[in-house]
Amino acid sequence: MRFIGRKKQQGAGPDAAILNVAEWEMVGEHPTIIEIHKQLGLLARNRVTVLIQGESGTGKELAARILHEAGAPGQPFVGVNCSAVVPTLLESEFFGHEKGSFTGADRRKTGKLEHAAGGTVFLDEIGDMPLDLQSKLLRVLQEEEFVRVGGLEPIPFRARIVAATNKDLHQLIAQGAFREDLFYRLSVARVRLPPLRERMSDIPLLVDYLLARISGKLRIAPVRVDQDAMEWLMEYDWPGNIRELENVLMNACALAKGRSLGTDDLRILPPPGSGREEDAVPVTLAHAEKVQIKKILEANDWNITRTARILEISPTTLRKKIADYGLERGGR
Ligand SMILES: Nc1ncnc2c1ncn2[C@@H]1O[C@H](COP(=O)(O)OP(=O)(O)O)[C@@H](O)[C@H]1O
Ligand SMILES: [Mg+2]
Repeated sequence: MRFIGRKKQQGAGPDAAILNVAEWEMVGEHPTIIEIHKQLGLLARNRVTVLIQGESGTGKELAARILHEAGAPGQPFVGVNCSAVVPTLLESEFFGHEKGSFTGADRRKTGKLEHAAGGTVFLDEIGDMPLDLQSKLLRVLQEEEFVRVGGLEPIPFRARIVAATNKDLHQLIAQGAFREDLFYRLSVARVRLPPLRERMSDIPLLVDYLLARISGKLRIAPVRVDQDAMEWLMEYDWPGNIRELENVLMNACALAKGRSLGTDDLRILPPPGSGREEDAVPVTLAHAEKVQIKKILEANDWNITRTARILEISPTTLRKKIADYGLERGGR
């Protein structure tokens, strides 16, 4: 098994622990995380269905990637966000469809279940899956085969299912919004990722790790946090968990002048709903993109090269988007 296990992390103290599989690394030495490292190692050896529970930003997708890479390296990992897709499209997205099976189906399309053969299907936000699709998924799990929409020929299902949710599925079951039988099928094994506030002792380790990752990504010299800043980071309760920590550090690195971050450099990004467009919860993808581009531009003093790098697009694309969205320096 290509499970590298724990290794020492540079500069993070003698007992620092990282579960490292391919490029996916789960950092932490809190007893709950060590336990999760063990659990993932054992679960990677077989193909049982796993349900990963935890608040947003606690590393559910990361855990799914680690399970996948340790168990079926090089095989497809196919993610489906069950809350992001229009319900009527979800079925064809899942199962694929035959040519002519509905208006607009002008050619055969293979679905995610088929694409994942030999690998993993990651069902993110499983609690949001519509009930009729829950029934169909249950049937796939029971029969280990499925048919494309409008098709007759059964296709064997040969992938592992890893599902994730930040919702309380028992509550959804009680409300009639989630099938109990599907819940038991999916949760053959369960992994619960703790919120960051339950393992605050891991913060220094995570900060070192995330700063190294961020400086690599932004291609800037290594950045550290000073002692006051570290204390500040260890006092906040992190409702957005590791994703929020990462965003705060990313924001600080993008703005920082020096190589050491102080408390002045750190700011909690405002929660949505405070009135300005930047703070509103974006509804459309285009709106989200516009808000994000504006935010990063402002944070970087409208430096095009740097903003493009952070957004992982080319400067040309960035300029085009600025024009398309009519963004202006200091404007709304
Ligand atoms: N233990 C960890 N060590 C290092 N990075 C982590 C850890 N847990 C989460 N992350 C990082 O935090 C971010 C959010 O993780 P993700 O798996 O997307 O969370 P979720 O799916 O639960 O919302 C990702 O960038 C991920 O790499
Ligand atoms: Mg996620």
